[in-house]
Amino acid sequence: MVVGVIGSGAMGAGIAQVAAMAGHTVWIYDTQQAALENASAALKSNLTKLEEKGKIKDAASVFAAMHFVSSLSALAPCKLIIEAIVENLHIKKTVFSELETIVADDCLLASNTSSLSITSIAAACKLPQRVLGLHFFNPAPLMALVEIIPAIQTDASIITTMKELMTAWGKTPVIAKDTPGFIVNRVARPYYGEAIRIYEEGIADMATIDWALTQIGGFKMGPFALMDYIGHDVNYVVTATVFESFYYDPRYKPSFSQKRLLEAGWLGRKTGRGFYNYAQGETTPAANEDAVLGKQIVERVLAMLINEALEALHLNIASAADLETAMTKGVNYPKGLLAWCEEWGKEKALAVLDNLYNNYHEDRYRACVLLRK
Ligand SMILES: NC(=O)c1ccc[n+]([C@@H]2O[C@H](COP(=O)([O-])OP(=O)(O)OC[C@H]3O[C@@H](n4cnc5c(N)ncnc54)[C@H](O)[C@@H]3O)[C@@H](O)[C@H]2O)c1
Repeated sequence: MVVGVIGSGAMGAGIAQVAAMAGHTVWIYDTQQAALENASAALKSNLTKLEEKGKIKDAASVFAAMHFVSSLSALAPCKLIIEAIVENLHIKKTVFSELETIVADDCLLASNTSSLSITSIAAACKLPQRVLGLHFFNPAPLMALVEIIPAIQTDASIITTMKELMTAWGKTPVIAKDTPGFIVNRVARPYYGEAIRIYEEGIADMATIDWALTQIGGFKMGPFALMDYIGHDVNYVVTATVFESFYYDPRYKPSFSQKRLLEAGWLGRKTGRGFYNYAQGETTPAANEDAVLGKQIVERVLAMLINEALEALHLNIASAADLETAMTKGVNYPKGLLAWCEEWGKEKALAVLDNLYNNYHEDRYRACVLLRK
């Protein structure tokens, strides 16, 4: 099967690599010649390194299966096209409707969007039943998770086919309802939002919050270090989009602290400054390793995360098993949040949330009905 990838940026290049390594011929299209050249050079170098490490046999033949093109019509022979262009609904819709004039009727069209409605994208097509979301995580060759998102128009048989294909590509597929943030970008929001809230209220500084969540909570990266790593242009925009898409539910409310970073151009590691300063000679601020404070921080963030996972389960956004897989494979959480809830104690999680609710009287802290039950 010939696979097409539209957009040769961070995600498009990674997805093309995954498809080529799975044995497909891949056509990669981008409007920017420089982006195609960068992707080609990066992919060649990545594949060579993989061959040196003994992870693939023949880097040259995998690379030779990838074709970098600056004309959309070159994608005509494809049977699956994955779009990974700029996160803009109008532009994505335009590209999808143009694609339909080029490809055969049996070509499946997927979007890698992080936050836009797959149903809206499908609505731009004459055959919306062939459109779906295929949400890879960054970096696509390393992250196992792929969220498969049927639009309300999508033919159900395509979802089964895609699950099998993603498994054949070495990925771990989960199925998510077409709702804002799908699974991971919805359920993970409190990891960032509640951490910032704790910081903004002056309960603890960033280094202490990061210390608590890594050293006591067991998360791989603290929320501030992670947001700096992801980039505030991505992380803030996802939060703001999820917030707006949920009709301004206060649970997802973005913060001014992060917005100001974006306005200043302090996008995180990539610009040398974000919540932390990455300039040479700067040292990471020391955490206040107070065990009692650390435990309070972890309990507050964890209760919010568990609540979010239970709400997603309650609203049938995904199955319990897929929710657990998504959070452990998509954002490398040390445990699935439902298992964590069982282990830590449902009563405890509910008590933390009710205590927050009683103190703040904010809807943000309302406990999910499933947790209360
Ligand atoms: N970066 C992430 O962590 C991440 C993770 C999952 C999903 N996504 C989603 O993947 C998509 C791409 O993100 P990215 O980080 O790779 O972006 P990017 O900016 O690195 O790359 C986007 C590429 O698309 C090209 N492009 C823009 N408009 C185009 C058009 N009309 N036709 C063809 N090419 C076009 C650009 O030239 C650029 O090379 C977005 O929808 C994003 O939300 C991103």
